[in-house]
Amino acid sequence: MGKIVSLAGVVALGASAVWGQTFETFTDGNGIEFWQCEFGGAGVVGDGDAQFGLALPATAQTGFEEEYIGHLVVPKVKSTGTWMGISHESSMTSALLLLSWLDGADVMTSFRYASGYTSPDIYTGNATLTKISQSVNATHFEMTYRCESCWSWDQDGVAGSQVPATTSGAAQLIGWAQATQAPTTPGDTDSAIKQHADDGIFGAVVASARKSAYTSWVSLATATSTAAQATGTSTNSSNSTGSASASGTGGVTAATATAAACPNENAMASTTWDYIIVGAGAGGIPLADRLSEQGASVLLIEKGPPSSGRWGGTMKPDWLIGTNLTRFDVPGLDNEIWKDSEGIACEDYSVMAGCVLGGGTAVNAGLWWKANPVDFDYNFPAGWKSGDMAAAVDRVFERIPFTDVPPTNGVLYKPQGYEVVGGALAAAGWQNVTADDVPAKKNFTFSHPNEMFSHGERGGPMATYLVTANERKNFKLITNTTVSRVVRDGSRITGVEVEAFLEGGLCGIINVTPGTGKVILSAGAFGTPKILFRSGIGPQDQLETVKDAESSAMIESSHWINLPVGHNLDDHVNTDLVLTHPKISFYDFYAAYTNPIPSDADQYIANRTGILTQSAPNLSVLFWQEILGDDGITRQLQYTARVESGHDIESNKSMVISQYLGRGATSRGRTTITASLDMVVSTVPYLNNAHDTAAVAAGIESLKAALAMDPKIQIMYPAANTSTADFLADYPLTTASRSANHWMGSCKMGLDSGLVGNGTAVVDTDTKVYGTDNLFVVDASIFPGMTSTNPSALIVAAAERASELIAKIKVGKSSLVANSTVPYPTGNTNSTLPQGAGSPSGSAVPSGTAIFDSAASNATSRCTKQITLTGSRTSSSSLATEFPASSSLTTAFPTATSTPSTSHASFSLPSTGYQATNGTLPYPTATTSSPSGSSGRE
Ligand SMILES: Cc1cc2nc3c(=O)[nH]c(=O)nc-3n(C[C@H](O)[C@H](O)[C@H](O)COP(=O)(O)OP(=O)(O)OC[C@H]3O[C@@H](n4cnc5c(N)ncnc54)[C@H](O)[C@@H]3O)c2cc1C
Ligand SMILES: *[C@@H]1O[C@H](CO)[C@@H](O)[C@H](O)[C@H]1NC(C)=O
Ligand SMILES: *[C@@H]1O[C@H](CO)[C@@H](O)[C@H](O)[C@H]1NC(C)=O
Repeated sequence: MGKIVSLAGVVALGASAVWGQTFETFTDGNGIEFWQCEFGGAGVVGDGDAQFGLALPATAQTGFEEEYIGHLVVPKVKSTGTWMGISHESSMTSALLLLSWLDGADVMTSFRYASGYTSPDIYTGNATLTKISQSVNATHFEMTYRCESCWSWDQDGVAGSQVPATTSGAAQLIGWAQATQAPTTPGDTDSAIKQHADDGIFGAVVASARKSAYTSWVSLATATSTAAQATGTSTNSSNSTGSASASGTGGVTAATATAAACPNENAMASTTWDYIIVGAGAGGIPLADRLSEQGASVLLIEKGPPSSGRWGGTMKPDWLIGTNLTRFDVPGLDNEIWKDSEGIACEDYSVMAGCVLGGGTAVNAGLWWKANPVDFDYNFPAGWKSGDMAAAVDRVFERIPFTDVPPTNGVLYKPQGYEVVGGALAAAGWQNVTADDVPAKKNFTFSHPNEMFSHGERGGPMATYLVTANERKNFKLITNTTVSRVVRDGSRITGVEVEAFLEGGLCGIINVTPGTGKVILSAGAFGTPKILFRSGIGPQDQLETVKDAESSAMIESSHWINLPVGHNLDDHVNTDLVLTHPKISFYDFYAAYTNPIPSDADQYIANRTGILTQSAPNLSVLFWQEILGDDGITRQLQYTARVESGHDIESNKSMVISQYLGRGATSRGRTTITASLDMVVSTVPYLNNAHDTAAVAAGIESLKAALAMDPKIQIMYPAANTSTADFLADYPLTTASRSANHWMGSCKMGLDSGLVGNGTAVVDTDTKVYGTDNLFVVDASIFPGMTSTNPSALIVAAAERASELIAKIKVGKSSLVANSTVPYPTGNTNSTLPQGAGSPSGSAVPSGTAIFDSAASNATSRCTKQITLTGSRTSSSSLATEFPASSSLTTAFPTATSTPSTSHASFSLPSTGYQATNGTLPYPTATTSSPSGSSGRE
């Protein structure tokens, strides 16, 4: 399941326990007036409430747009110390963070920046903090400060901003986080820190914070404030209790995982593999099992450490000590990922993903959906339609059946959420189904969660496919090892370069079997693009960024393969509603991690019964609706209801219902790589057109109507007087607020090769990367568009299907560096396309696209030939449905007399499907030089 956080905009949510906040105007000892927010209650970790005050310049006072005066009151945590952080755009990642803590009587400050779910780095941009005053007493510390260049930030070229709006009613989203441990070296502004224990978000009312006296207040901040320029540390001015922090020297990167030592250099140098699969997640594990089942040698390389106890994982709370279980194995501990993800979440992505054995299938909520057939029919090209996928889908559910009653005694715990919401839906005419029994019924239907859990434990690919793979001598799994790039000779991949990510990981080069070996990337929607970029495969701008970062390791630009890797990024769009009902009662799954109710822990350990067999936070009911848009496209909505609070609703009788907009949505985003080689979502795939937004709005209206069937259901969020249009207009379009963690699409599968013109596809229908001989992608990134449901079971089905196709592929030369006797048009002047004249020979017919030189001065010189290819179709041809099963084929290309309307013409003949025996491929007559590629081969 996707978004488990209970507050929109809070990335790493701590306790979802109730917390309150009140607002007031506050005047501090300096006479500065703030819009002030007090937040506290049961959820805040310190002894008492915290406060944040905001003062902004009046709209007319130009030159001060990028700054504010802040007032921070932090409750101390007596025995262990604390730090408090403020995010200048609500989320932990990709925003300027300001940390403060105590060093004796001094309030220390430090600007930080987190590109991923890891301990933030020191901020290297030019934010400047000048203290106006500070004080400390027995229970709190407080500080008033001026923060300049704080509403826009730039970390190594990754920029973001949240400049306060000038419109009336605007809100400034601020996130906060507080830890129950002091920084490691409190006297050092660059000190390492331990993860926070709680966090939240509030929207400051901009209009209330604007005061024309602002420009006189800033003169209270008198110290020279240069240190932060480069280091992100703070300087001090007047203060009431002594001198404040010294500025740090900067340049130190805190707590970034560095490569582990590498004692096993070249440990595997002498062995080669038929298949090297990179990434042991939803795609990689099933693929490794199926390919090794066929007898080939398979190496599966996983960056992260073991997770499940079955595989030697060790991360667990005390109450699991003495069992073979880890935190990953117990369904009721799954949302701990939002509280403590250190060493689990991928530290190099700006969004959440599991970088442990199992990938997403180790950390997710286990929702396990049999594919809605239309997901394949609508999104995928020929060869991947629901009819082609049916057998693969069935195999997935043979290996990993679903359950809707995880406790082994068949008794569901705390089912009130299902009763309340399901009851209202039923009253409104929605149909109660078991979703995986009727996968196509996704309109006005509701179901219990269907999950991959087995015997009260997580189960899934790690407990099935990986177990059978591991029994084979021709299979090997290595963990703690990052694949940095593939090693290639033009279009031919010869192996992978590996680095130790953790202790015990490998280094060096590992090769595939010469001539026939294949490399498959299954590193996920961010991990796979990252490896491709570092291998010189992707858009020019991304490859330039990598080249600047690691020049010597990067393949020469003459061998770059330009493909739209990272484009077409997709995710479900999340929109939350919060309701209360007297029958609902909250169960604290977060508390169960460290301090479970003893009888619940006992039940779980003794016989896998009780609420901890169910996924947190009590996923109750899932339901679906289809919305037909004005553009004629039917868009799919899925709703997930869970028992928790959120969006400032202070109640333990509340539920959050998350609406996910999926299949049919046309918004797409982009992931790109930064100078420090982190993957970020540089364009969000959320509601960038009116049709997608209209579907979300229509769904909310229809949900409200259904919930009204139970008069005891009170919709608390959005507030009753807020229209759906206003609600959506104010709902931030950020990954923090809108992500469902269902990232996909960044290496799209399609027939329109991205090598050419406006082609959008990165892999062909055999999952092979265009322009390569033997590089494949099998993970969420090949999905062209979003699924109806949470995607993991469909990704496993894609791996099942890919295992059939990849095994049948004979490694030949790709169309980029081709058979020496195949003539090719010149294509882009900077491409590596061979040039020449002649007839195709040999067995490797290009599966790509002929490029006509659009710059050729004389249009009639572009294509002068008609091609006749004869051959036989093999049974594995993915185009079998589109071409007749005859033994010959004639394909006409544009001739000299009919000038092509586009600069290219496609001839998507799969190398497995047709063997050319005669004919001449079209090429510009002007081009006659000899091709540079080597001879094609099987
Ligand atoms: C918190 C959360 C909850 C979710 N809940 C659900 C749910 O309930 N149901 C559902 O269906 N889906 C859910 N999802 C989504 C689902 O888990 C993912 O869509 C799915 O796991 C993606 O599969 P994948 O094979 O593309 O990548 P992943 O499963 O992410 O696997 C990629 C693997 O590659 C490894 N890797 C990355 N880079 C490298 C490298 N350079 N070298 C070596 N290894 C590398 C990673 O460590 C990881 O193990 C959830 C996701 C998250 C994050
Ligand atoms: C600081 O950063 C801001 C925002 O990027 C920029 O406008 C400003 O010019 C920078 N100031 C200095 C002194 O570099
Ligand atoms: C300590 O400081 C906090 C915050 O300024 C304040 O609310 C509290 O009353 C103070 N306590 C005492 C004993 O003065």
